[in-house]
Amino acid sequence: MPRRRLRDVAPRPASRVLWAAALLGAAALAGCGGIQSALDPAGPDAQRIAELTAWMSGGAAVVWLLVVGLAVYVLRVAPGEHPRRTALLIIGGGAVFPTVVLAGLLAYGLAMIPPLLAPAPPGGPTITVSGEQWWWRVHYQPAGGGAPVELANELRLPVGRRVDVFLESPDVIHAFWVPSITGKIDMVPGRRNRIALEPSRTGLFRGACAEYCGASHALMNFYVVVEEEEDFERWLAHQARPAAPPQGALAARGARLFLAHGCGACHTVRGTPADGGVGPDLTHVGSRVSLAAGVLPNERADLLRWIERTGDIKPEVHMPTFSMLPRQDLQALAAYLEGLR
Ligand code: CUA
Repeated sequence: MPRRRLRDVAPRPASRVLWAAALLGAAALAGCGGIQSALDPAGPDAQRIAELTAWMSGGAAVVWLLVVGLAVYVLRVAPGEHPRRTALLIIGGGAVFPTVVLAGLLAYGLAMIPPLLAPAPPGGPTITVSGEQWWWRVHYQPAGGGAPVELANELRLPVGRRVDVFLESPDVIHAFWVPSITGKIDMVPGRRNRIALEPSRTGLFRGACAEYCGASHALMNFYVVVEEEEDFERWLAHQARPAAPPQGALAARGARLFLAHGCGACHTVRGTPADGGVGPDLTHVGSRVSLAAGVLPNERADLLRWIERTGDIKPEVHMPTFSMLPRQDLQALAAYLEGLR
């Protein structure tokens, strides 16, 4: 019996292409869900954008199929054969059909702009987000003149309510994007742009900087926590309060070290002498989802790692590395910051 050669058992080229296409398709579809996906909308604006994507992709597929079909037809017809039919196909399929399809898609896309730009109704908080090197400064001014709140790398939003977010940048251009909730918008120095966020379900979503802004652009993320209106109001009232006093000897030592090492020159901890404005406000840093703009989980060990190895974790970040501090001091600082909830 003859030995089977590899050629006999290996998949044929056509089936290999099909397999590759299926694998690619599966990989692409696997990326469609989750907390940072424009194809898994959690709000009416993201829903519109997802529908526009589907129609645009469908329209492109129809035009592509027609053009490829025409090319195949032309290759099979001998030159000079059916000149009238060929001319009709070129004008009809090459000019009229794409013009009609593209004009239809353009009108459909343009009609979507006014609802996406619709402002929030009055009565909600005014949220301002500033793109920093490389983190997000978040400022809430509650409606009705409550105390303002500043935090970093995190937004909280009430579910089912449209809220305006104003966007600024002190130096370079960033782009603010929460794909699950709406489209992206640039943060341009000297301008104050606006985008409305209207989440339709509670949960945790992830946003990212969508404009290359320097060495740690890819490490500039944030979280959006969407919760019920009462939970949101409770959270906002808590964020407006000054920091809780440190609990326990280790945290109390950390609080003293925080001031002694000059951390307060860059960071504010409301209710303490620390009132710096260069870095993130740390008044309630222990209550946040992440550290260092979505880069590390918010755990004591990661707080320590961040203080000790800032520049390794986020290249070219402004915050200096404090690797020269004794281990016990780093532990005390991490314990203090963890307790700022
Ligand atoms: Cu900020 Cu990219």
